[in-house]
Amino acid sequence: MPHIALLHETDWSGWRQAARHLALANVEPDDVTWSVGGTGDELPEASGGFSLPRALVDLAALAIQAREKERFGLLYSLVWRAHGGEKVIDDTTDPDLVLARRLALSVRAEAHRMRTSLRFMPVEAADGRTRQAPRYLGWYAPLHFVLPANAQLIARRFPDLTWSIVTPDGAAHWGTWRNPQEGNTQEGNPQELRFGAGKRSIEDDATLRAWWDQFGADLLADATPGTSVPEAEALDERPRPPDLPPLGPVVVEGARDPVLARTAREAMNCERCPLYAPATQTVFGEGPRGAGVMFIGEQPGDQEDVIGRPFVGPAGQVMDRAMEEAGIDRRTVYVTNAVKHFKFTPRGKRRIHQNPDVSEIEVCNFWLDKEREAVRPKLLVILGGSAARAVMRRAVTISRERGRPITLPDGQMAFVTVHPSYLLRLPDEAAKRREYAAFVRDLRAVAELMAAM
Ligand code: URA
Ligand code: SF4
Repeated sequence: MPHIALLHETDWSGWRQAARHLALANVEPDDVTWSVGGTGDELPEASGGFSLPRALVDLAALAIQAREKERFGLLYSLVWRAHGGEKVIDDTTDPDLVLARRLALSVRAEAHRMRTSLRFMPVEAADGRTRQAPRYLGWYAPLHFVLPANAQLIARRFPDLTWSIVTPDGAAHWGTWRNPQEGNTQEGNPQELRFGAGKRSIEDDATLRAWWDQFGADLLADATPGTSVPEAEALDERPRPPDLPPLGPVVVEGARDPVLARTAREAMNCERCPLYAPATQTVFGEGPRGAGVMFIGEQPGDQEDVIGRPFVGPAGQVMDRAMEEAGIDRRTVYVTNAVKHFKFTPRGKRRIHQNPDVSEIEVCNFWLDKEREAVRPKLLVILGGSAARAVMRRAVTISRERGRPITLPDGQMAFVTVHPSYLLRLPDEAAKRREYAAFVRDLRAVAELMAAM
């Protein structure tokens, strides 16, 4: 029974190479064991190659980042079956495929969460440079092994800053390093992403800062270069500094305010209207309690229903992009929906979105009102007709009322715009571009209102 030892948790090329050799040598999935670290057996001799459906490779590249021990074997079994001629990727009821897709979706959601909830604090750059900009330091405990793949994206987003993201599994550092051949000047050296040891937990910013003051310089000196997504090869298992015991599973406490967290827990058991029954879970709002602005959508979509977080699917991605273009930092706003359960009709294996009824919107206002009471936003951004119905308690013609601040009878300031799903549904490219630009314009007006608040 071959045993495969991978180099680290996201050893994508190691796993791929092993899967290729094993499948070519026709080794059954049940006959292989996998570990991270340790000593493995030689790979079986294999000649030739085979190709896999692109969708399967993409799925595996995501799912391999899941914090799930069985993932290497599960993904190998899909590869083995595809190599045997099965069209595994097309059978959406296949239990192995369903599991792999769940892992992949969960990884995607976690990657998104990391990118939207990371907070950085400036620390002195511990790399011995004089007269320099600070290093930005952030700590985050990801549910999955999403750091290597996403550090690359973050580097592209903040190329001009020097930063380190520390997690319990390891740290990623972006900056310039001295070139040993050229003495100690860093001028002109290219910026580079390196990986090294992490930190298991922090109590607060002060402990993180103190830890950085003590270990930062050594961590940077020991960090090694990484490669591009998803091949984070260089994230090798380095000896950890002495205060870091080996890792068990990481339990992530949401950074939610206690009042909102309690309300969200209550909403998990809500049966006030019939929508709870066929849906997977209640999808509650997210964001800081003191947010000045609350974005209100309609209801969770198919992906939000599975993942349990608002606006993480296709509409959420459009919204993220538009917010970024308008200069709105999603981490600073509260994002929620008028209705907290996904309403759909099954069609074959798909679940088709259905608009909520007025009665469902009215009943679910119970939760939106609680969110509004807790957050007390100065401005409500109403995305589309269902949200408008929930907040304004009447039918609203979006095209007539969009794009300018409105004062509601109770004094609340609101701003109506379209729902991002509307942009996705437009049939032709020209209309899509035009309407997307109008949406960004509306969000810029929101950004201006925020700046004046
Ligand atoms: N559409 C919404 O209105 N809300 C979501 O969370 C996702 C899609
Ligand atoms: Fe409760 Fe709203 Fe879900 Fe209806 S849609 S069950 S009111 S949380």
